[in-house]
Amino acid sequence: MTSIKKIGLLTSGGDAPGMNAVIRAVTRTALMNNIEVTGIVNGYAGLFSKEFINLNALAVSNIEGTGGTILRSSRCKEMMTDEGRDKAANICKEYGIDALVVIGGDGSLTGAQTLAERGISIMGIPGTIDLDLACSEYTIGFDTALKTASDAISCLIDTSNSHERCSVVEVMGRNCGSIAIWSAIASGADIALVPEVNDITTEDVIKKVKHTREKGKKFSLIVVAEGVGGSVKLAKDIEENTGIESRATVLGHIQRGGHPTVLDRVYAAIMGNKAVQLLINGETNKIITVQNGKCSSIDLEEGLKLQKTKKKFDKDLYDVINTLSI
Ligand code: F6P
Repeated sequence: MTSIKKIGLLTSGGDAPGMNAVIRAVTRTALMNNIEVTGIVNGYAGLFSKEFINLNALAVSNIEGTGGTILRSSRCKEMMTDEGRDKAANICKEYGIDALVVIGGDGSLTGAQTLAERGISIMGIPGTIDLDLACSEYTIGFDTALKTASDAISCLIDTSNSHERCSVVEVMGRNCGSIAIWSAIASGADIALVPEVNDITTEDVIKKVKHTREKGKKFSLIVVAEGVGGSVKLAKDIEENTGIESRATVLGHIQRGGHPTVLDRVYAAIMGNKAVQLLINGETNKIITVQNGKCSSIDLEEGLKLQKTKKKFDKDLYDVINTLSI
């Protein structure tokens, strides 16, 4: 049996739909095994300000379908310094937190690794809309963000079609093109500009827009990843060079909200449950992952090392956009 009596739980970095479902899964699995759960409010910042709440079974009732994070989140500058990391580790020890479960992306898990180096037992759960972790096929929030982006693009297609315009849509994803590629495929985009493919010029895009018009298509849809940016300028260049009215839309933070999809809720439940099960079995300093479609785990340090060599780019998936466009 486990020697763990108390788990600390926090959400950190950009929030992601499904984080609440993870909070519920972690809390309920822990309580079922007589482990107390301390919710740390506002991410690592709440660790420093000691904003702690006790999470009981009812506190996490009926949250699996809600967006945002009931624990709130932050990007915490103090966790970027050695002094801050020492302080955070000491607070965990002072408050009897035997293990810290961190739900977040790359930066948040890197912060967790610095605490692991200071003797805190860590479980990381990938929660980010970006799908940008090299060590996991899935990150909680991606499916919901993708649905939100694709639904918004459908609306843009309606109006672009009515006005015979070109729509340039910028989606989130930081330095990763996953949301752009998947939403481009889902929406039948003519072209997607992503950071992983850097040889597509503005001239290529203009050529493509002209080509699809010549073939009789009445509207154009260009998806631009945040990591490429410049959608307003691109729309202007397209309009000037083709005479086709063009509009840019930056979807922005709308992609971070909303009710999580079923996929996000289910992954959240499975991954949250696994995180606590591993702790109970005496395992520590891991990232919960999805590998070959199955919930698995990887050593925290190793998982973050993979991040340095970058996520493997799926060129075949990207090429589907071009193959299916006119
Ligand atoms: O990591 C999630 C994300 O939404 C990225 O796609 C985006 O680059 C970033 O966070 C935006 O961060 P903030 O909410 O701090 O502006």
